[in-house]
Amino acid sequence: PRVELWDGYYLHQYQGFWCPSPFIRPMISFQRHFQAQNEDIILSTYPKSGAIWLKALIFTIVNRSRHTLEQSPLHTNFAHQLIPFFETAIYMNNRTPDLEDLPKPRIFATHAPYSSLPHSIIDSNCRIVYLCRNPLDQFISEWQFLLGIQGNKGKQRSMDEALEMACSGVQSYGPIWEHVLGYWKVSNEQPNKILFLKYEDLKEDTDFYVKKLADFLGYPFSKEEEKEGVIEEISKFCSFDNMKNLEASKTADRHPIGYTTKMFFRKGKLGDWKDYLTPSMAERLEKLMEEKFDGSGLNFKTS
Ligand code: A3P
Repeated sequence: PRVELWDGYYLHQYQGFWCPSPFIRPMISFQRHFQAQNEDIILSTYPKSGAIWLKALIFTIVNRSRHTLEQSPLHTNFAHQLIPFFETAIYMNNRTPDLEDLPKPRIFATHAPYSSLPHSIIDSNCRIVYLCRNPLDQFISEWQFLLGIQGNKGKQRSMDEALEMACSGVQSYGPIWEHVLGYWKVSNEQPNKILFLKYEDLKEDTDFYVKKLADFLGYPFSKEEEKEGVIEEISKFCSFDNMKNLEASKTADRHPIGYTTKMFFRKGKLGDWKDYLTPSMAERLEKLMEEKFDGSGLNFKTS
């Protein structure tokens, strides 16, 4: 089955999730051909949950002995280039790219649901960091992002319609509940394999999670580093205000899909949904969250 999100842009149901049509073929190549290595780091995110932020944090933590923050490649390279997505970049134009000899640790990203990950990721000792966000802010972030895509002006569905679709799971990589729960369940069973993070927590105490990420990924901070304030410096370097103003973030170049780098830095705040959703729209999403996450032990802060 497929659904037209707007004029000519389709989502296809693939293995139980709604995948944007341009990414299905690369997704299949990723599933068939990717060979994970034990040192690999895989970032998985639900769309518009802060992938770009997590990429900057992980890249900076893992490479901190290679360059200072002043010399960081993030000044001139967009985080999506430094840590590419499997399905929108790596396998987009090549079914079998040569990834064997990339510098270690190799760091990749994906929006694939847990149940669609290639076996080698599940079976190897590589680590997965998953990031999601409360569905209200996620919905608004995606709505705003889609508005900015070239060629989409005036074609987008009304917010009411889009919400209706999202509530029934029809959204990029939706249903969000299934995506989040897939990783949540495994992260509880295998905490050394999957680190499950929420945007809201990361925002509220970035320093704590920088340390947690470093420990989880096998790059713990030394006592000296802690004393010197390295953790705080990394949080600050990767903060929304700093990243938004890096040279690499300001380009207006359009990617083939129709978005610009700038569009990934919109507001970066908690509770932005309050400026857009009516009380009844918000209530609808909150109720659905309660229902879908009932009994799972998972919940999200929405304000
Ligand atoms: P908003 O649209 O709510 O502002 P993704 O990278 O997964 O596409 O997520 C994009 C969202 O993360 C956007 O949310 C964006 O502004 C926010 N974001 C980008 N960089 C960030 C940072 N350094 N800190 C916090 N949020 C950030």
